[in-house]
Amino acid sequence: MKNPYIVEPAVITGIRQETAETKTYTLEFIEQKRGLEFIPGQFNMISLLGIGEGPFSITSSPLQRNKFEHTIRLVGSLTKALDRLSIGSTVGVRGPYGNGWPVDSVKNKDIVIVAGGVGLAPLRGLINLVAEQRDDFGEIEIMYGSRKPDNLIFTSEYGNWRAVPNMRLFLTVDEVPKGIEWPYEQGVVTNLLGFSRIDPSNAFAFMCGPEIMMRFIARSLIIRGFAEKNIFASLERRMECGMAKCGRCMIGPKYVCIDGPVFSYPEVKALPHNLLTAIS
Ligand SMILES: Cc1cc2nc3c(=O)[nH]c(=O)nc-3n(C[C@H](O)[C@H](O)[C@H](O)COP(=O)(O)OP(=O)(O)OC[C@H]3O[C@@H](n4cnc5c(N)ncnc54)[C@H](O)[C@@H]3O)c2cc1C
Ligand code: FES
Repeated sequence: MKNPYIVEPAVITGIRQETAETKTYTLEFIEQKRGLEFIPGQFNMISLLGIGEGPFSITSSPLQRNKFEHTIRLVGSLTKALDRLSIGSTVGVRGPYGNGWPVDSVKNKDIVIVAGGVGLAPLRGLINLVAEQRDDFGEIEIMYGSRKPDNLIFTSEYGNWRAVPNMRLFLTVDEVPKGIEWPYEQGVVTNLLGFSRIDPSNAFAFMCGPEIMMRFIARSLIIRGFAEKNIFASLERRMECGMAKCGRCMIGPKYVCIDGPVFSYPEVKALPHNLLTAIS
C-alpha cells in the first residue's frame, strides 16, 4: 500500500495563464509511471520546500492519467511562490484526497453545475469527463459567474463545452467594465437558473463557490424542485494533513478532508453554523 505521507516530486510541463491571478499547471510525476488515479472533485496537497503546502483541486479529466492539472489562484505565500515557477520546476504532490463528486450515482442523470469564480476548478474535471463519455450522462447545464469578464477561468474551453451535445453553458458577471463587450448575462449566478431546461424532479446539482453564493443557489434549487439529497456542494476549509490527523479542517464532527470536500445538502444541513441554510 502507498504510504500516505510520501510526497512525490512532479515536474511542471505546462502553464496556462487563466486570469491575471490564476494559472493552470500541467504536472507529471518524475519517478512513478502509474500516473494519478482520481475522481473529479478530489484534491492533492501541493508543496514547495521551505515554503509550505496547501490543498488544490485536480482540474484535469480523470481519463488523462499520465499528466494532471491544477488551477491555482494567487492569494498568499504558497500560491505566490507557485506563481513564480516556470516549466521544468518541481513541486511536491501528496494525494489524491477527499471523496470527489458522486460520479457513479449520476450516470444517465441530468446535472446542473453551478460555480462562482475559481469554484469552477473542482468541476472542470467532471465537465470534461462528461464530454469524453457523453453517452453515460444525461443533459448538462453549466451556470458560471464571476466578478468581471476577465475573472472567468477556462475560457479557452467554452467553445468545446458548447459543442458537446446536450451540454449548455450560461455565463454571468457582476460587473462589466466600460468599453468591454459582454454578450452574456449580468447579475448574480442565481439568475442563470431561470434559463434551465432540465426537469429538476430527477436531476442532480453540483456547486462550488463562495458559501454565500451556495446558500442562495441551494435555496433556488430547492424552490425549483430539486430533491435536497441530489444537491451537492464542495466546501473549502484550511487544511494541514489532508487525511483526518490534525483536525484543522473540521466542521463539527466532520473532516472536510476525508468526509468531503463534497457534501450532500442534507449532510451540510446537519453541520453546525447553518453553513448553506441561513439566508440573511
Ligand atoms: C479542498 C480544497 C480545494 C481547493 N482547491 C483550490 C483550487 O483548485 N485552486 C485554488 O486556487 N485554491 C484552491 N483551494 C484554496 C487553496 O488551498 C488556498 O488558497 C491556498 O492553500 C492558500 O495558500 P497561500 O499560502 O497562498 O495563502 P495563505 O498565505 O495561507 O492565505 C492567504 C489568504 O487566503 C485565505 N485562505 C488560505 N487557504 C484557505 C482555504 N483553504 N480556505 C479558505 N481561505 C483560505 C487565508 O485566510 C488568507 O486570507 C482549495 C482549498 C481546499 C480546502
Ligand atoms: S486537514 Fe488535517 S484533519 Fe483534515
